[in-house]
Amino acid sequence: MQLSLAKHGSLAGHSKWSRRLARLVPFYDYQGDRFFASDDCPAEIAQRRRTGFDRLAERYRTMFPRSAALTVEARAGISDLQFTGAYRVPFQYSRLVREKLVGGNFLAASEGVQLIDLDGNRLYDLTGSYGVNVLGYDSYKRFIAEAVERAGMLGPVLGGYHPVVADNVARLRALSGLDEVSFHMSGTEAVMQAVRLARYHTGRSHLVRFTGAYHGWWGEVQPGVGNPVPEERTYTLADMSDHTLAVLARRRDIACVLINPLQALHPNSGAPADSALVDSSRRAGVDRKGYSDWLRRVADTCRANGIVLILDDVFTGFRLAIGGAQDYFGVRPDLVTYGKSLGGGLPVGVLCGRADLMRRYRDDRPVDICFARGTFNSHPYVMAAMNAFLRALETAEVRQLYDGLDERWNARAARLNTMLAEEDLPVRVANLSTIWTVCYTAPSRYNWMLQFYLRAEGLALSWVGTGRLIFSLDYDDAAFAEVASRFVAAARKMREDGWWWSNPALTDKAIRRRMLREMLTHRFSGSCR
Ligand SMILES: Cc1ncc(COP(=O)(O)O)c(C=O)c1O
Repeated sequence: MQLSLAKHGSLAGHSKWSRRLARLVPFYDYQGDRFFASDDCPAEIAQRRRTGFDRLAERYRTMFPRSAALTVEARAGISDLQFTGAYRVPFQYSRLVREKLVGGNFLAASEGVQLIDLDGNRLYDLTGSYGVNVLGYDSYKRFIAEAVERAGMLGPVLGGYHPVVADNVARLRALSGLDEVSFHMSGTEAVMQAVRLARYHTGRSHLVRFTGAYHGWWGEVQPGVGNPVPEERTYTLADMSDHTLAVLARRRDIACVLINPLQALHPNSGAPADSALVDSSRRAGVDRKGYSDWLRRVADTCRANGIVLILDDVFTGFRLAIGGAQDYFGVRPDLVTYGKSLGGGLPVGVLCGRADLMRRYRDDRPVDICFARGTFNSHPYVMAAMNAFLRALETAEVRQLYDGLDERWNARAARLNTMLAEEDLPVRVANLSTIWTVCYTAPSRYNWMLQFYLRAEGLALSWVGTGRLIFSLDYDDAAFAEVASRFVAAARKMREDGWWWSNPALTDKAIRRRMLREMLTHRFSGSCR
């Protein structure tokens, strides 16, 4: 009963149900006029949308011919490309979009805050390379070049350590405030090891993750849709809920609690991808004090009940502050995971923790060990690039980037919102420092189109579209002003093309009800075109 109360009311809080329901959703798509009038807009609006879509498709054809051609050619052999291509927009619209709006996935170069594609287009980078790019691409290029130089004599020798490892450990101990460090090859692996150690030392079976939080693609931290196997040793509990604290205090099978501080931006909901942007109900916004208080209460409850607190700082580490989410939200975990930017541009996962929790064997039971390996752990080139990154954090130039970081990025978000409001555009941004998401203020079925208008204006987004914009800290005022004006121009064009047509009957609720009806119709009659 207590466990049920601590589950978030949304489907994301109910992994088993979400998986079952996902299996029931039938495929159908909008063809012909339906694509442009799925919200029952007047014919004149549908025509405007069609004209706008054709114009945009023509712009894509002339702007991205080479990047698009290679993407189409390579797609058949790259599973990841097929997946991300199919899930850029809600599936009902995907076919036509995939056919006509191919921006291309191949790039030739990066320079400053821009990416240069195979056609020579310079795009402002809002992908952030999944969050890796904190200091700016040119810095990582330098770190990698330096690493090749420094570790080159040893080469790709594994098992023995390059001396730079010792320095990395010393720096990470100081940064994390924890005793020991282990190196892994990805954030996912660092999380796996953190959970494994927590189970080993507590002798308890279950991990707790909060609704919607991403911790990599390991099955146990990803129950529900996306994972074909039911996860029996994971509790998904509501974020910012007293019921959750009651469960933590009561149950004796909980080994650890995982926190992804990114959830501060959208507690209890998942990564906001445009493939799920079926209406305008996406909400986001940070209450820094409220979330800090919550984390302190979680930490206190864990401490009082022998539960290991794992801060998963893979995304937010080195991005919110040099000391990561620990400093930003004032929480002290038992274990902390890092990754992404810490590799200095190369792949990495790192776990830092209290000595008693990091230990992989027991003095009194020599055969009862907690095994962890990985061929490429502590790769000399990765370790040297990491060292270059960690040393860069001490330079005045980089310290300056962190100086007043939040104020700078909050002011930039506010400025863009003012520009959008002044033109009465139904779009706003919300941000956790340099991590942004786009929200929509009027009900619409077509918000996902904005990502394509943005790209046509020279703004590069990742495959999740407007759900996640990630800026590097080296964006200066001029570059940001350029992004903001292009963003507004894209939204203006989208409105001119009729996608945000509104009608009092077109509420978010009505849109969802309509979609449900479509699905049922299709499931039981086999047609909904
Ligand atoms: C909070 C968090 N944890 C873990 C991971 C997994 O890291 P990786 O993709 O390096 O396996 C990610 C990746 O986005 C993440 O954001």
